[in-house]
Amino acid sequence: MTEAQNQKQPLLSVRDLHVSYGAIKALRGFNLDVYPGEIVCVIGSNGAGKSTLMNAIMGNVKRQSGKILFEGKPLEGQSFQIVTKGLSLSPEGRKVFAPLTVYENLMMGSFPVNDKEKVKKDLEWVYTLFPRLRERSSQYAGTLSGGEQQMLAIGRALMASPRLLLLDEPSLGLAPIIIKDIFKELKRINEEGVTILLVEQNARQALLLSHRGYVMQTGQLVMEGDAKELLHNPEIQAAYLGTGKKAH
Ligand SMILES: Nc1ncnc2c1ncn2[C@@H]1O[C@H](COP(=O)(O)OP(=O)(O)O)[C@@H](O)[C@H]1O
Ligand SMILES: [Mg+2]
Repeated sequence: MTEAQNQKQPLLSVRDLHVSYGAIKALRGFNLDVYPGEIVCVIGSNGAGKSTLMNAIMGNVKRQSGKILFEGKPLEGQSFQIVTKGLSLSPEGRKVFAPLTVYENLMMGSFPVNDKEKVKKDLEWVYTLFPRLRERSSQYAGTLSGGEQQMLAIGRALMASPRLLLLDEPSLGLAPIIIKDIFKELKRINEEGVTILLVEQNARQALLLSHRGYVMQTGQLVMEGDAKELLHNPEIQAAYLGTGKKAH
């Protein structure tokens, strides 16, 4: 048990979650807990159900059955209501608003925060984490590089002042050096008090960053544990870490 798990109440609990798209069963009874202060990752190949999990938590896809609890209370409602409860998602593929500037994208993210001073402080924090966003604050988001768009997607999610930040494949399509930069800032975000749930195909980066990890295969949990132990587990190495040539 990690220190965070010793605190009894998980921030987020997912219990026996099922989600289907017509005949396709994307989640088949998934379970997960995230404790306050943790970075938890879910690793799995393409099509395993990682984005479906994130979207089910955020109210973007319909849950067929099962429970999602946030601070012990059922997490229900539409996406915008869920954001006001303290969760926000940086989605797969960034999905920044291309015809808006960096600054406008960040301000869109702040919609659940009513306190103007708090928004100003959060904006300053995001600009400190990602100085490139400050430099490019009046640039259209659609003209940013992939790495800058990822920073913007994370920054926009942070502007909602979440207690739980959900990140869907922040490394996707980025050069290793940019991934390193971004993951360094994710660690800092966590150290400054934001709990993180991360889903990734890039198992190595995800496990290096996280405290604990879950392994998902065809919508089911196949293994969970301390991130460093998973990183050294021969089965995980063979299936997801390759021999240094392939990610999985
Ligand atoms: N909107 C959708 N309609 C139908 N099937 C979908 C949809 N989204 C995802 N799926 C299917 O659900 C499964 C899980 O997908 P997804 O959650 O995107 O996996 P991952 O994020 O791990 O790559 C896949 O078989 C995928 O093809
Ligand atoms: Mg996905």
